[in-house]
Amino acid sequence: DAADSHPLVTHDKTIEKESPMSRTVRVAVTGAAGQIGYALLPRLASGEVFGHDTRVSLSLLEITPALPALEGVVMELQDCAFPLLDDIRVTDNAEEAFDGINWGLLVGSKPRGKGMERGDLIRENGPIFVGQGAALAKAASDVRVLVVGNPANTNSLIAMKHGVKGGIPRERFHAMTRLDQNRAAAQLALKAGVGVTDVTNMTIWGNHSATQYPDAENAKINGRPCTDVIGHVAWLQGEFIELIQQRGAAVIAARGLSSAASAANAALDHVRSVEGATADGDWFSAAIPGDGSYGIDEDLIFSYPVRSDGKGELSIVQGLELSEFSRGKIVSSEKELQEERAVVEGMF
Ligand code: NAD
Ligand code: LMR
Repeated sequence: DAADSHPLVTHDKTIEKESPMSRTVRVAVTGAAGQIGYALLPRLASGEVFGHDTRVSLSLLEITPALPALEGVVMELQDCAFPLLDDIRVTDNAEEAFDGINWGLLVGSKPRGKGMERGDLIRENGPIFVGQGAALAKAASDVRVLVVGNPANTNSLIAMKHGVKGGIPRERFHAMTRLDQNRAAAQLALKAGVGVTDVTNMTIWGNHSATQYPDAENAKINGRPCTDVIGHVAWLQGEFIELIQQRGAAVIAARGLSSAASAANAALDHVRSVEGATADGDWFSAAIPGDGSYGIDEDLIFSYPVRSDGKGELSIVQGLELSEFSRGKIVSSEKELQEERAVVEGMF
Protein backbone atom coordinates (compact mmCIF):
# COMPACT_ATOMS: atom_id res chain seq x y z
CA ASP A 1 0.00 0.00 0.00
CA ALA A 2 1.22 3.44 -0.92
CA ALA A 3 0.90 4.74 2.62
CA ASP A 4 3.16 1.98 3.91
CA SER A 5 5.91 3.00 1.54
CA HIS A 6 5.79 6.65 2.55
CA PRO A 7 8.80 7.64 4.67
CA LEU A 8 6.68 9.63 7.10
CA VAL A 9 4.22 6.92 7.97
CA THR A 10 4.52 5.37 11.38
CA HIS A 11 2.79 2.31 12.74
CA ASP A 12 2.76 1.86 16.46
CA LYS A 13 2.06 -1.82 16.85
CA THR A 14 2.68 -1.64 20.60
CA ILE A 15 -0.55 0.24 21.11
CA GLU A 16 -2.49 -2.37 19.17
CA LYS A 17 -1.07 -5.10 21.38
CA GLU A 18 -1.75 -3.21 24.60
CA SER A 19 -5.40 -2.43 23.92
CA PRO A 20 -6.80 -4.94 21.46
CA MET A 21 -10.41 -4.18 22.41
CA SER A 22 -10.41 -0.43 21.79
CA ARG A 23 -11.77 0.91 18.52
CA THR A 24 -9.84 3.03 16.06
CA VAL A 25 -11.23 6.11 14.36
CA ARG A 26 -9.53 7.15 11.15
CA VAL A 27 -9.60 10.90 10.60
CA ALA A 28 -8.38 12.76 7.54
CA VAL A 29 -7.29 16.37 7.88
CA THR A 30 -6.63 18.37 4.73
CA GLY A 31 -4.36 21.41 4.77
CA ALA A 32 -2.62 19.67 7.65
CA ALA A 33 0.50 21.85 7.47
CA GLY A 34 -1.55 25.05 7.81
CA GLN A 35 -2.38 27.14 10.83
CA ILE A 36 -5.60 25.38 11.75
CA GLY A 37 -3.97 22.00 11.17
CA TYR A 38 -1.27 22.87 13.66
CA ALA A 39 -3.83 23.68 16.35
CA LEU A 40 -6.11 20.77 15.46
CA LEU A 41 -3.85 17.75 15.15
CA PRO A 42 -2.42 17.48 18.68
CA ARG A 43 -5.87 17.79 20.16
CA LEU A 44 -7.29 15.15 17.81
CA ALA A 45 -4.47 12.78 18.70
CA SER A 46 -4.73 13.43 22.44
CA GLY A 47 -7.97 11.50 22.87
CA GLU A 48 -10.01 14.49 23.96
CA VAL A 49 -12.41 14.20 21.02
CA PHE A 50 -13.21 10.52 20.60
CA GLY A 51 -12.57 9.49 24.17
CA HIS A 52 -9.77 7.84 26.05
CA ASP A 53 -10.70 4.34 24.91
CA THR A 54 -10.51 5.17 21.20
CA ARG A 55 -7.36 5.06 19.16
CA VAL A 56 -6.92 7.69 16.50
CA SER A 57 -5.42 7.10 13.12
CA LEU A 58 -4.52 10.26 11.22
CA SER A 59 -4.49 10.74 7.49
CA LEU A 60 -2.90 14.04 6.51
CA LEU A 61 -3.38 15.61 3.09
CA GLU A 62 -1.34 18.50 1.77
CA ILE A 63 -0.31 19.93 -1.57
CA THR A 64 3.09 18.65 -2.68
CA PRO A 65 5.10 21.82 -1.84
CA ALA A 66 3.80 21.74 1.75
CA LEU A 67 4.86 18.12 2.42
CA PRO A 68 8.27 19.12 3.87
CA ALA A 69 6.59 21.44 6.38
CA LEU A 70 4.11 18.70 7.18
CA GLU A 71 7.03 16.43 7.94
CA GLY A 72 7.88 18.77 10.83
CA VAL A 73 4.32 18.57 12.14
CA VAL A 74 4.48 14.77 12.02
CA MET A 75 7.75 14.86 13.97
CA GLU A 76 6.06 16.96 16.62
CA LEU A 77 3.09 14.62 16.79
CA GLN A 78 5.46 11.70 17.30
CA ASP A 79 7.31 13.71 19.94
CA CYS A 80 4.10 14.17 21.90
CA ALA A 81 4.07 10.38 22.45
CA PHE A 82 0.31 10.31 22.52
CA PRO A 83 -0.72 6.86 23.78
CA LEU A 84 -3.80 6.76 21.55
CA LEU A 85 -2.20 7.90 18.31
CA ASP A 86 -2.19 4.78 16.21
CA ASP A 87 -0.59 5.75 12.94
CA ILE A 88 -0.07 8.75 10.69
CA ARG A 89 -0.53 8.60 6.95
CA VAL A 90 0.86 11.50 4.93
CA THR A 91 0.09 12.12 1.30
CA ASP A 92 -0.58 14.63 -1.46
CA ASN A 93 -3.14 12.28 -3.01
CA ALA A 94 -6.73 12.83 -1.89
CA GLU A 95 -7.94 9.33 -2.66
CA GLU A 96 -5.13 7.85 -0.60
CA ALA A 97 -5.86 10.27 2.23
CA PHE A 98 -9.57 9.44 2.29
CA ASP A 99 -9.25 5.68 2.06
CA GLY A 100 -11.56 4.15 4.66
CA ILE A 101 -11.84 7.28 6.81
CA ASN A 102 -14.60 7.84 9.36
CA TRP A 103 -14.22 11.61 9.47
CA GLY A 104 -12.87 14.05 6.88
CA LEU A 105 -11.99 17.48 8.21
CA LEU A 106 -11.59 19.53 5.06
CA VAL A 107 -9.56 22.52 6.14
CA GLY A 108 -7.11 22.90 3.26
CA SER A 109 -7.88 25.98 1.19
CA LYS A 110 -6.84 29.57 0.96
CA PRO A 111 -7.85 31.95 3.76
CA ARG A 112 -9.07 35.48 2.98
CA GLY A 113 -6.95 38.51 3.65
CA LYS A 114 -7.88 41.96 4.98
CA GLY A 115 -10.73 43.65 3.14
CA MET A 116 -12.02 40.44 1.51
CA GLU A 117 -15.30 38.60 2.11
CA ARG A 118 -15.11 34.81 2.48
CA GLY A 119 -17.24 34.44 -0.68
CA ASP A 120 -14.46 36.14 -2.69
CA LEU A 121 -12.51 32.87 -2.34
CA ILE A 122 -15.09 30.80 -4.15
CA ARG A 123 -13.54 30.57 -7.61
CA GLU A 124 -10.13 29.73 -6.20
CA ASN A 125 -11.17 27.32 -3.44
CA GLY A 126 -14.28 25.74 -5.05
CA PRO A 127 -12.29 23.46 -7.39
CA ILE A 128 -10.46 21.91 -4.41
CA PHE A 129 -13.79 20.50 -3.25
CA VAL A 130 -14.64 19.09 -6.68
CA GLY A 131 -11.54 16.91 -6.53
CA GLN A 132 -11.91 16.06 -2.87
CA GLY A 133 -15.64 15.28 -3.20
CA ALA A 134 -14.83 12.90 -6.06
CA ALA A 135 -12.00 11.34 -4.05
CA LEU A 136 -14.34 10.81 -1.10
CA ALA A 137 -16.83 9.15 -3.43
CA LYS A 138 -14.17 6.67 -4.52
CA ALA A 139 -12.34 6.05 -1.27
CA ALA A 140 -14.76 6.40 1.64
CA SER A 141 -18.27 5.24 2.44
CA ASP A 142 -19.06 5.38 6.16
CA VAL A 143 -17.69 8.89 6.48
CA ARG A 144 -18.74 12.22 7.94
CA VAL A 145 -17.31 15.32 6.34
CA LEU A 146 -16.84 18.71 7.96
CA VAL A 147 -15.80 21.51 5.62
CA VAL A 148 -13.89 24.30 7.36
CA GLY A 149 -12.20 25.88 4.31
CA ASN A 150 -14.00 29.00 3.13
CA PRO A 151 -16.53 29.71 1.81
CA ALA A 152 -17.38 26.66 3.90
CA ASN A 153 -21.09 26.20 3.12
CA THR A 154 -20.71 26.35 -0.63
CA ASN A 155 -17.50 24.32 -0.63
CA SER A 156 -19.37 21.65 1.31
CA LEU A 157 -22.20 21.78 -1.24
CA ILE A 158 -19.67 21.16 -4.01
CA ALA A 159 -18.10 18.23 -2.12
CA MET A 160 -21.58 16.81 -1.45
CA LYS A 161 -22.60 16.96 -5.11
CA HIS A 162 -19.61 14.77 -5.94
CA GLY A 163 -19.65 12.61 -2.82
CA VAL A 164 -23.22 11.42 -3.38
CA LYS A 165 -22.19 10.03 -6.76
CA GLY A 166 -20.19 7.41 -4.85
CA GLY A 167 -23.11 6.59 -2.55
CA ILE A 168 -22.20 8.74 0.47
CA PRO A 169 -25.51 10.00 1.90
CA ARG A 170 -25.94 13.77 1.44
CA GLU A 171 -26.58 14.21 5.19
CA ARG A 172 -22.95 13.30 5.83
CA PHE A 173 -21.71 16.63 4.46
CA HIS A 174 -21.47 19.48 6.96
CA ALA A 175 -19.90 22.93 7.06
CA MET A 176 -18.65 24.62 10.18
CA THR A 177 -20.67 27.29 11.92
CA ARG A 178 -19.64 26.09 15.37
CA LEU A 179 -17.09 28.87 15.68
CA ASP A 180 -19.90 31.39 15.17
CA GLN A 181 -22.02 29.58 17.78
CA ASN A 182 -19.14 29.66 20.26
CA ARG A 183 -18.49 33.33 19.54
CA ALA A 184 -22.16 34.18 20.03
CA ALA A 185 -22.48 32.22 23.28
CA ALA A 186 -19.31 33.81 24.65
CA GLN A 187 -20.50 37.34 23.86
CA LEU A 188 -23.95 36.73 25.38
CA ALA A 189 -22.30 35.31 28.49
CA LEU A 190 -20.07 38.39 28.78
CA LYS A 191 -23.02 40.74 28.36
CA ALA A 192 -25.15 38.88 30.92
CA GLY A 193 -22.25 38.40 33.35
CA VAL A 194 -22.71 34.61 33.43
CA GLY A 195 -20.55 31.62 32.55
CA VAL A 196 -20.46 30.48 28.96
CA THR A 197 -22.07 27.13 29.82
CA ASP A 198 -25.09 29.04 31.14
CA VAL A 199 -25.88 30.00 27.53
CA THR A 200 -27.71 27.24 25.65
CA ASN A 201 -29.85 26.82 22.53
CA MET A 202 -27.58 29.06 20.49
CA THR A 203 -28.52 29.00 16.82
CA ILE A 204 -26.57 30.33 13.92
CA TRP A 205 -28.81 30.40 10.85
CA GLY A 206 -27.48 30.41 7.30
CA ASN A 207 -24.09 31.06 5.84
CA HIS A 208 -20.72 31.25 7.60
CA SER A 209 -20.41 34.80 6.32
CA ALA A 210 -21.41 38.35 7.12
CA THR A 211 -25.08 37.46 6.48
CA GLN A 212 -25.22 34.77 9.17
CA TYR A 213 -27.93 35.27 11.77
CA PRO A 214 -27.00 34.56 15.39
CA ASP A 215 -30.44 34.08 16.92
CA ALA A 216 -30.69 35.59 20.40
CA GLU A 217 -34.50 35.25 20.33
CA ASN A 218 -34.34 31.49 20.74
CA ALA A 219 -31.21 31.37 22.89
CA LYS A 220 -31.45 30.76 26.62
CA ILE A 221 -29.46 31.85 29.63
CA ASN A 222 -29.84 29.58 32.65
CA GLY A 223 -32.99 28.22 31.02
CA ARG A 224 -34.63 31.65 30.60
CA PRO A 225 -35.10 33.48 27.32
CA CYS A 226 -31.90 35.35 26.55
CA THR A 227 -33.94 38.39 25.50
CA ASP A 228 -35.48 38.58 29.02
CA VAL A 229 -32.15 38.14 30.80
CA ILE A 230 -30.27 40.69 28.68
CA GLY A 231 -33.33 42.90 28.13
CA HIS A 232 -31.56 45.16 25.66
CA VAL A 233 -33.27 44.50 22.34
CA ALA A 234 -31.40 47.22 20.45
CA TRP A 235 -28.07 45.65 21.43
CA LEU A 236 -29.25 42.12 20.61
CA GLN A 237 -30.61 43.16 17.20
CA GLY A 238 -27.74 45.47 16.34
CA GLU A 239 -24.29 45.43 17.88
CA PHE A 240 -24.44 41.77 18.94
CA ILE A 241 -25.31 40.44 15.48
CA GLU A 242 -22.71 42.58 13.79
CA LEU A 243 -20.05 41.57 16.28
CA ILE A 244 -20.55 37.90 15.43
CA GLN A 245 -20.90 38.51 11.69
CA GLN A 246 -17.65 40.49 11.67
CA ARG A 247 -15.66 38.55 14.25
CA GLY A 248 -13.58 36.66 11.69
CA ALA A 249 -12.64 39.94 10.00
CA ALA A 250 -11.79 41.50 13.37
CA VAL A 251 -9.40 38.63 14.15
CA ILE A 252 -7.76 39.04 10.74
CA ALA A 253 -7.41 42.80 11.28
CA ALA A 254 -5.80 42.25 14.68
CA ARG A 255 -3.60 39.24 13.97
CA GLY A 256 -2.89 39.69 10.29
CA LEU A 257 -3.96 36.04 10.00
CA SER A 258 -7.33 34.37 10.26
CA SER A 259 -8.50 32.59 13.38
CA ALA A 260 -6.79 29.27 13.97
CA ALA A 261 -6.90 28.16 17.62
CA SER A 262 -10.60 29.01 17.92
CA ALA A 263 -11.36 27.51 14.49
CA ALA A 264 -9.62 24.24 15.39
CA ASN A 265 -11.41 24.21 18.73
CA ALA A 266 -14.77 24.68 17.01
CA ALA A 267 -14.08 21.86 14.54
CA LEU A 268 -13.41 19.52 17.47
CA ASP A 269 -16.56 20.73 19.23
CA HIS A 270 -18.50 19.96 16.05
CA VAL A 271 -17.17 16.41 15.85
CA ARG A 272 -17.86 15.81 19.54
CA SER A 273 -21.40 17.17 19.24
CA VAL A 274 -22.16 14.94 16.25
CA GLU A 275 -20.69 11.84 17.93
CA GLY A 276 -22.47 12.31 21.25
CA ALA A 277 -26.18 12.58 22.03
CA THR A 278 -27.36 16.17 22.46
CA ALA A 279 -28.54 17.08 25.96
CA ASP A 280 -32.30 17.19 26.42
CA GLY A 281 -33.77 20.52 25.43
CA ASP A 282 -30.56 21.87 23.93
CA TRP A 283 -29.16 21.98 20.40
CA PHE A 284 -26.08 23.12 18.55
CA SER A 285 -25.44 24.83 15.23
CA ALA A 286 -24.15 23.16 12.13
CA ALA A 287 -24.48 23.83 8.44
CA ILE A 288 -26.06 20.73 6.91
CA PRO A 289 -28.12 19.86 3.81
CA GLY A 290 -31.68 21.13 4.09
CA ASP A 291 -34.86 19.05 4.23
CA GLY A 292 -37.38 21.83 3.63
CA SER A 293 -37.50 22.81 7.32
CA TYR A 294 -38.48 26.44 7.91
CA GLY A 295 -39.22 26.76 4.17
CA ILE A 296 -35.52 27.08 3.38
CA ASP A 297 -34.16 25.95 -0.01
CA GLU A 298 -33.22 22.26 0.47
CA ASP A 299 -30.37 22.34 -1.99
CA LEU A 300 -28.05 24.36 0.22
CA ILE A 301 -25.71 23.61 3.09
CA PHE A 302 -27.39 25.93 5.57
CA SER A 303 -26.77 26.38 9.28
CA TYR A 304 -29.65 25.25 11.49
CA PRO A 305 -30.27 24.34 15.10
CA VAL A 306 -29.57 20.59 15.14
CA ARG A 307 -29.54 17.66 17.52
CA SER A 308 -27.58 14.42 17.35
CA ASP A 309 -29.05 11.05 18.28
CA GLY A 310 -25.65 9.99 19.63
CA LYS A 311 -25.07 7.68 16.66
CA GLY A 312 -23.91 10.44 14.35
CA GLU A 313 -27.32 11.18 12.80
CA LEU A 314 -28.45 14.79 12.94
CA SER A 315 -31.93 16.25 12.80
CA ILE A 316 -33.02 19.84 12.42
CA VAL A 317 -34.87 21.15 15.48
CA GLN A 318 -38.45 21.82 14.48
CA GLY A 319 -41.01 24.39 15.54
CA LEU A 320 -38.86 27.31 16.65
CA GLU A 321 -40.69 30.60 16.61
CA LEU A 322 -39.21 33.08 14.21
CA SER A 323 -40.13 36.76 14.38
CA GLU A 324 -40.42 38.91 11.27
CA PHE A 325 -36.97 40.25 12.16
CA SER A 326 -35.50 36.74 12.31
CA ARG A 327 -37.19 35.62 9.09
CA GLY A 328 -35.78 38.63 7.25
CA LYS A 329 -32.24 37.82 8.39
CA ILE A 330 -32.59 34.12 7.52
CA VAL A 331 -33.94 34.89 4.04
CA SER A 332 -31.07 37.24 3.28
CA SER A 333 -28.51 34.56 4.19
CA GLU A 334 -30.46 32.03 2.09
CA LYS A 335 -30.33 34.44 -0.88
CA GLU A 336 -26.59 34.83 -0.50
CA LEU A 337 -26.11 31.06 -0.50
CA GLN A 338 -28.28 30.74 -3.60
CA GLU A 339 -26.08 33.34 -5.29
CA GLU A 340 -22.93 31.45 -4.29
CA ARG A 341 -24.49 28.23 -5.62
CA ALA A 342 -25.19 29.92 -8.95
CA VAL A 343 -21.49 30.80 -9.24
CA VAL A 344 -20.34 27.20 -8.71
CA GLU A 345 -23.12 25.27 -10.49
CA GLY A 346 -20.70 24.49 -13.32
CA MET A 347 -18.53 22.62 -10.79
CA PHE A 348 -21.27 20.11 -9.82
P1 NAD B 1 -3.42 28.18 6.03
O1 NAD B 1 -3.11 28.91 4.79
O2 NAD B 1 -2.59 28.38 7.24
O3 NAD B 1 -3.44 26.62 5.73
C1 NAD B 1 -4.12 26.08 4.64
C2 NAD B 1 -3.37 24.86 4.19
O4 NAD B 1 -4.13 24.23 3.18
C3 NAD B 1 -1.99 25.18 3.60
O5 NAD B 1 -0.99 24.44 4.29
C4 NAD B 1 -2.12 24.74 2.15
O6 NAD B 1 -0.92 24.20 1.62
C5 NAD B 1 -3.22 23.71 2.25
N1 NAD B 1 -3.92 23.44 0.99
C6 NAD B 1 -4.22 24.30 0.00
N2 NAD B 1 -4.82 23.65 -1.01
C7 NAD B 1 -4.94 22.36 -0.63
C8 NAD B 1 -5.45 21.20 -1.23
N3 NAD B 1 -5.98 21.23 -2.47
N4 NAD B 1 -5.39 20.04 -0.57
C9 NAD B 1 -4.84 19.98 0.65
N5 NAD B 1 -4.30 21.04 1.27
C10 NAD B 1 -4.36 22.22 0.65
O7 NAD B 1 -4.96 28.48 6.34
P2 NAD B 1 -5.76 28.23 7.70
O8 NAD B 1 -5.64 29.44 8.54
O9 NAD B 1 -5.42 26.91 8.26
O10 NAD B 1 -7.25 28.23 7.14
C11 NAD B 1 -7.71 27.21 6.28
C12 NAD B 1 -9.11 27.54 5.78
O11 NAD B 1 -10.05 27.53 6.85
C13 NAD B 1 -9.25 28.91 5.12
O12 NAD B 1 -10.07 28.80 3.97
C14 NAD B 1 -9.95 29.73 6.19
O13 NAD B 1 -10.64 30.83 5.64
C15 NAD B 1 -10.88 28.71 6.75
N6 NAD B 1 -11.44 28.99 8.08
C16 NAD B 1 -12.75 28.65 8.29
C17 NAD B 1 -13.33 28.86 9.53
C18 NAD B 1 -14.76 28.52 9.78
O14 NAD B 1 -15.28 28.91 10.84
N7 NAD B 1 -15.47 27.82 8.92
C19 NAD B 1 -12.55 29.41 10.56
C20 NAD B 1 -11.23 29.73 10.32
C21 NAD B 1 -10.68 29.51 9.06
C1 LMR C 1 -13.43 32.98 10.79
O1 LMR C 1 -14.65 33.11 10.94
O2 LMR C 1 -12.62 33.34 11.66
C2 LMR C 1 -12.92 32.31 9.54
O3 LMR C 1 -13.96 32.03 8.65
C3 LMR C 1 -11.81 33.08 8.89
C4 LMR C 1 -12.34 34.32 8.20
O4 LMR C 1 -12.01 34.51 7.03
O5 LMR C 1 -13.04 35.10 8.83
